[in-house]
Amino acid sequence: MIILKLFVLIGFFYLVKSKTTFMSNLPLGEYRTVFERIYYCQSTNTFQSNLYFNKRTSNITEMKGNFSFSKPLDDSYSIDINAASWSLTGGWKPNSMVYLSKNACSSLKMFFGKAGYSMYKSFKFPKYSCPIPAGTYISSGIDLKEIEDHNFPKVYFYGRYKVMFKIKDVENNIHGCGVIELSLIRPWEIPI
Ligand SMILES: *[C@@H]1O[C@H](CO)[C@@H](O)[C@H](O)[C@H]1NC(C)=O
Ligand SMILES: *[C@@H]1O[C@H](CO)[C@@H](O)[C@H](O)[C@H]1NC(C)=O
Repeated sequence: MIILKLFVLIGFFYLVKSKTTFMSNLPLGEYRTVFERIYYCQSTNTFQSNLYFNKRTSNITEMKGNFSFSKPLDDSYSIDINAASWSLTGGWKPNSMVYLSKNACSSLKMFFGKAGYSMYKSFKFPKYSCPIPAGTYISSGIDLKEIEDHNFPKVYFYGRYKVMFKIKDVENNIHGCGVIELSLIRPWEIPI
């Protein structure tokens, strides 16, 4: 039943290409997201993110920083999201979730769902639609609880993940690249 729900939710992503490796050894269910680290990987930096997590109080962690785009982020780019999962036996295993889609801007908007709307308000993007014009967008802090309201399946395998986001052009050049490390925990678990 839960598995059926998972696949229905994955079907909800109207993706060009998406894949979840079935990890039958891992328990799955509804989860809370604990964001742990955010860092950047090599790209031309056309779409630069300078974001970081900041613990504001004992129970509120916020994301702060800026996006700096030297060109408009439009649908001529594609998006490549690849999640590696932490295996207790062998380090990071890539491709536990792969999401490849054309139309980078619209796909990201769809992927982030309500979290995208919160980001639009917090970073003061000029409009909540694509393309996002070139510019620098600064947030004084957005509660990470708002980022949890994304369109990722609501039921998933518990564990640690390293999710890499890449924005590419048609020739596969990488124009923006970032990694978020996070854990999916049971709703009643206390983050470590
Ligand atoms: C964006 O963030 C980076 C890294 O924190 C910082 O060096 C830069 O000054 C920021 N840019 C603006 C316009 O605030
Ligand atoms: C955060 O913790 C404080 C003190 O422990 C508590 O009073 C407050 O209600 C908590 N806020 C949220 C949003 O959980």
